[in-house]
Amino acid sequence: MSRRSFVTGMFAALGSAVPVAAGAATGKPHRGTVLRAKPAQVSIGPRTVTTWTYDGRLPGPRIEATAGGLVRAKLVNGLPADTTVHWHGIRLDARMDGAPGYTQKAVPPGGTFDYVFTVPDPGTYFYHSHVGMQNDRGLYGTLIVADPHEPLGYDEEFTVVLDDWVDGVGGTPDEALRRLNASTAHDDTLRSTLLGGVVGELRHPYHLINGRAAETPEVFVSKPGRLVRFRVINAAADTAFRVALGGHRMAVTHTDGFPCAPVTVDTFLIGMGERYDFLVRLGDGAFPLVAEAEGKRARAFAIVSTSHRAPAPRSDVRLRELTQRMLRYADLRSRQADLLPRPSRSVTVTLGMRPSGNEWTLNDRLAADPMRLRVERGETIRIVLDNQSPMWHPMHLHGHTFQVRTSSGPQGPRKDTVNILPRERLNIDVHADNPGEWMFHCHNLYHQEQGMMGTLGYG
Ligand code: C2O
Ligand code: CU
Repeated sequence: MSRRSFVTGMFAALGSAVPVAAGAATGKPHRGTVLRAKPAQVSIGPRTVTTWTYDGRLPGPRIEATAGGLVRAKLVNGLPADTTVHWHGIRLDARMDGAPGYTQKAVPPGGTFDYVFTVPDPGTYFYHSHVGMQNDRGLYGTLIVADPHEPLGYDEEFTVVLDDWVDGVGGTPDEALRRLNASTAHDDTLRSTLLGGVVGELRHPYHLINGRAAETPEVFVSKPGRLVRFRVINAAADTAFRVALGGHRMAVTHTDGFPCAPVTVDTFLIGMGERYDFLVRLGDGAFPLVAEAEGKRARAFAIVSTSHRAPAPRSDVRLRELTQRMLRYADLRSRQADLLPRPSRSVTVTLGMRPSGNEWTLNDRLAADPMRLRVERGETIRIVLDNQSPMWHPMHLHGHTFQVRTSSGPQGPRKDTVNILPRERLNIDVHADNPGEWMFHCHNLYHQEQGMMGTLGYG
């Protein structure tokens, strides 16, 4: 079977074949955005909270660009602290990566910085502050890069940004981190409390979809029979989510912006920093879009509504869950497979926890004296991520998309963030084609701030 007929076959299983869109380039040039980082009051539904935002909004402004085009964004720092913007997942010029102390000096209060870069690859991305725990206060927004030759002929799309909400309600994440660090090694109460998102007087943490708590959910309004693309982004600091859409199976089409051979599932787990896109042909009714906070007995929730009919309850179903093994990279336009060159060597990166439980390491090093992987420009290197800690870690590499190597075949998915389960080993192949000193870290912000930050670099 050709790749094309495989892809079309998968979509036929959705109810009807996906029409392939005409190849005309329709993207308009990105005119430029001003991102004002500033304290603001925002409503998350049941409560109004004081926190830090871009432009007083949560999520921050949506930035749309077209693959091959430029993004221009002026950061204006109206915060009482230094800040930067990191463009998560974008294979950009290192000077625009927003990594404080590595690629730029953090922008002081009152300062500005012009981010100007080309976005080479279409897909679902986001941006966030890369200073301390600022991302967790709400300093994040979406960056959607359109494909001028979009191969999927869907009718409409929705973006779903997941977040866990601790800061601005019962304390600040920085304070939470300080308390966590001050706790003794076996004070598990505080840790589990904190990891459950419960700080200070806040008893019931909020989990948000597009800045809205489950009590007053976001409603995505569409029509029955429409083929809809959902772009799911996990911007949370400390929560993985299990996502499902009631009454529908989802055809997962993209992993961290890059296409994969569509896999039809009932649910998938999305770690911090990961993105998944899926297609569904919507039924007639109102359907719950549920994101279960993994291990926390809490959920984020939205509604997809195509009519005023009540949703059909559906609870007794065995869900088919996505695993990395089901995924393989596939160019949906049936162009060449775009294989990475074979890796010339491999290095192991060990993910570890120090006995204190408050320090997380990469090859036994903490961020203060970080692991620095050296590679040659142009080489492909296999990185063996060996998780010897009792916690899962969504590891993110800046400036690149790597290929996950699963045992099921030659091709795993393309990703820039991959979740490694406790005691698991996972191989990723990285092609060193974008020189710079790139952060390589766990996207659990607590782990990141507690040492789990290194670099991969070449000139
Ligand atoms: Cu989204 Cu270094 O991070
Ligand atoms: Cu981690």
